[in-house]
Amino acid sequence: MSEEIKNSEAQGAQPERKKRIFSAIQPSGTITLGNYVGALRNWVKLQDDYDCIFAVADLHAITVRQDPKAFRRNILEAYALFLACGIDTEKSIFFLQSHVHTHAELAWLLNCYTQFGELSRMTQFKDKSTKHADNVNAGLFTYPTLMAADILLYQADLVPIGADQKQHLELARNIADRFNGIYGRTFTVPDGYIPKVGARIKSLQDPTKKMSKSDENANAWVAILDKPETIMKKFKRAVTDSEAKVCVGEGKDGINNLIGIMSAVTGKTDEQITAEFEGKGYGDFKVAVAEAVIEEVRPIQERFDKLIADKAYLEEQYRRSAELATKISQRTLDKAMKKIGYVAR
Ligand code: AMP
Ligand code: TRP
Repeated sequence: MSEEIKNSEAQGAQPERKKRIFSAIQPSGTITLGNYVGALRNWVKLQDDYDCIFAVADLHAITVRQDPKAFRRNILEAYALFLACGIDTEKSIFFLQSHVHTHAELAWLLNCYTQFGELSRMTQFKDKSTKHADNVNAGLFTYPTLMAADILLYQADLVPIGADQKQHLELARNIADRFNGIYGRTFTVPDGYIPKVGARIKSLQDPTKKMSKSDENANAWVAILDKPETIMKKFKRAVTDSEAKVCVGEGKDGINNLIGIMSAVTGKTDEQITAEFEGKGYGDFKVAVAEAVIEEVRPIQERFDKLIADKAYLEEQYRRSAELATKISQRTLDKAMKKIGYVAR
């Protein structure tokens, strides 16, 4: 809780404060239908009920080697796409992580309150260091302390994350607890926020796995920016079963997934969808799912095209947000530095 809130509560004013949410996503090029349904779309909804701060985690992204030109393009495209999906800078703060200097600074401090053993236990580090065995850099190892800094700088109450980030959030909580234990209350200890609704979208080629942009088979995922004909083609090729009956069932992972996607984009229940396609074949159903997805992404793509062509507008948005984020996070950084014993600037 911030100092102002505490004071105003003590005076009996404004007992309600919106909880603060922080989240970030890496600018890795392709944003899939899975990312949209599982993360992005939820962020958009959260904006009305929470005090939201979001970032494009471009500092995190260089733990794997990036081509400078493509990297710059991916960062801007991620920013524009999120705005196109409905992140609204009138309601939320939405910035590029590298534009707010406090992140790297607090990350350094927190590195000194994080144990080698703790970081060694991170499963993502173990996975990634096997996968990129030629570049096991120190950043890959300390990545979770940067993520902790992202969250703790804003005194976030809640952090929307996917299951793969739970261990990192747990570490952020431990670091906050440890620091608070040594110096007195400095950081809010954040909770994970797993949205109630949020289907797990599965791969179109192997529906037992989640849809992931890192899948080398491009037919396995649908990108929000895929052209309509590409989306249609990918759905037509989706793996199904031999029963030829549109209904939810065991051993029908492919059809279950398509029904899930249809439900996620149209808001219809599984029962409504099943009733609608009774007696119809998989071919018709696949086309209908593709059309529903195309309709969902069409307005996003139109807004994206306008935004990406308007660099001045984008710049205005990320600059203003970075200024606000710097102000908020500087207070936390100053507080932490004072507690450690640094001389005030
Ligand atoms: P990633 O692309 O794996 O870094 O994930 C970024 C965010 O998107 C996380 O919050 C994930 O939970 C979410 N996400 C990624 N893939 C899917 C999927 N197939 N279904 C639902 N959510 C997903
Ligand atoms: N590490 C997260 C991911 O790869 C992205 C991220 C960076 C993040 N900083 C964060 C998520 C802070 C939540 C809070 O998906």
